[in-house]
Amino acid sequence: MLTRRALITRGGAAGAGVMFLWASTPAEASSAEAAEEAAKPVLAKTSSIRVGGGKVVKGKYVITRPKRNVFKCFSAKCTHQGCTVSGVSGGTINCPCHGSKYDITTGAVVQGPAPRALPRKKIKVSGGKIRLA
Ligand code: FES
Repeated sequence: MLTRRALITRGGAAGAGVMFLWASTPAEASSAEAAEEAAKPVLAKTSSIRVGGGKVVKGKYVITRPKRNVFKCFSAKCTHQGCTVSGVSGGTINCPCHGSKYDITTGAVVQGPAPRALPRKKIKVSGGKIRLA
């Protein structure tokens, strides 16, 4: 007769075996990754950002498109005094408060008074959609 402890231990081991098998199946693992990826909200469609331009998303991020197949994402919070950048034009990300400008490729300061670059955000682009990575 099995003791309660033995039953729990064996049940746990069997459960772990099942979890191992589940985790080791490539098709299911990629399916789980795809589901996890799809759960992240779409920040923008690639078609909504013109080459050389960009857009502010949710007042929190600024996504730029320096080249046809290159997308970058930065914090939209100006490093000077924290205003939200207003948009992208003339090849720079622009802050309306005191005129700081940032490079659309690197986020580096092109014109002050901002003291440092905009922090970069990792993104993933697939199926014409841009999501945080
Ligand atoms: S807060 Fe952006 S330039 Fe001052």
